[in-house]
Amino acid sequence: MTTQQHTDRPLDGKVVLVSGASRRLGRTYAHALARAGARVVALARTLGDDPAQMGTLREVEASARAQGLDVTARRVDLTDEDSVRGVVEDVARELGGIDGIVNNAVASSERMECRGISQQVWDEAFAVNVRAPYLLVDSALPYLRAGDGGSVVNITSLAAGPTGKGGGAHAGLLLYGLTKSALNRLTSWYAAELADDGIAVNAISPGDVSVYLRTVNDITEERSNREVVAGEQLDEDFWGAPVAWLIGARPTDLTGEVLHTYTFGESWGPDRTRELSPALSDILGRDNLRAR
Ligand SMILES: NC(=O)c1ccc[n+]([C@@H]2O[C@H](COP(=O)([O-])OP(=O)(O)OC[C@H]3O[C@@H](n4cnc5c(N)ncnc54)[C@H](OP(=O)(O)O)[C@@H]3O)[C@@H](O)[C@H]2O)c1
Repeated sequence: MTTQQHTDRPLDGKVVLVSGASRRLGRTYAHALARAGARVVALARTLGDDPAQMGTLREVEASARAQGLDVTARRVDLTDEDSVRGVVEDVARELGGIDGIVNNAVASSERMECRGISQQVWDEAFAVNVRAPYLLVDSALPYLRAGDGGSVVNITSLAAGPTGKGGGAHAGLLLYGLTKSALNRLTSWYAAELADDGIAVNAISPGDVSVYLRTVNDITEERSNREVVAGEQLDEDFWGAPVAWLIGARPTDLTGEVLHTYTFGESWGPDRTRELSPALSDILGRDNLRAR
C-alpha cells in the first residue's frame, strides 16, 4: 500500500517548510514533523523574542528544541512574493535542499458578512491562502525534484466543498471557502503535473478544532470557540501524524487527494487501526466534527 518505511523517524533528515507555524495547528504540525525526524523550518510573521510567549515562532522553536527536535524559525510575510522566494532560496542553501512543504497559513478564516467584503480583505485572503502555496511550491520546485521525491501538503477545509448539507455550518465563510476551493484545485492540478517528477501533492482538512475540543473535553458552557482553543496544546499525534505521513508519501502512494484527519488509518494512510480513546471513537462519526 505504501513505500514508506515504518520507523520511528520516517522523515529523518528531510527539510520541511511549514507555513503559519507560529500557533495552533501549524505549531502542532511543525513539532510532529520534527518528531518524525524532519528538519523543520517554521514560517510566519510573528517572530517574537520571548521563548515563553505562545503565538510566536520563538516559542515554537524553543519548545521544540527543549525536546531535542529540529525546528528553526523564519519570519516571512506570505503576501510579499520576493520575501517568499527569498526564504525558500535561503533555506535550500543553508540546509542543503527542500523535501516537503506544508501550506498551513491562513487569512480570513473567521466568519464574516458576505456583503461588502473589501478589496483589501479579499486580496489578502487569496494572497495567503492560494498565491502563497503556489509561490512556495514554485520556488522550491528545483529542490523538490532533486531529492528522492518531494511532497506538498495543503491544509484545506470542508468549507471548500458543496454547501448543501453543511450550508448552515459554512455561513459566513464565503471568502474562506472560495480560497480553500482554489487550494483544492491547486492540489489536483499540481499533483497531475508533478507526479512524473516524483512529487506528491495532497490536501487535508483538519476538522474544526474548537468543536473537537468542546466534544472531547465535554465543554457545554457558553464559551467562544476562541476561548476554547486558547492555550490548548493540540494533540500532536492526532493532528500531526496524518500530515507527517503525507510528507513521507510518494505519488505512487497517494497524490491529488483531498483527505480528512479523521479518516487517517481508516480509508488512507498506513495499514493500521488507530488506537483511539473510547470518547474519541465515539465522536468520530458525528457530522458536526466534519463541518469545517
Ligand atoms: N482551526 C480549525 O478549526 C480549522 C478547521 C478547518 C481547517 N483549518 C485550517 O487549518 C489551518 C490552520 O488553522 P489554524 O486555526 O491553526 O490557523 P490560525 O490559528 O489562524 O493561524 C494562522 C497562521 O497563519 C499565519 N499567517 C497568517 N497570515 C500570514 C502572512 N501574511 N504571512 C505569514 N504567515 C501568516 C499566522 O501567523 P502570524 O500571524 O504570526 O503571521 C498563523 O501562524 C488553516 O489552513 C485553516 O484553514 C483550521
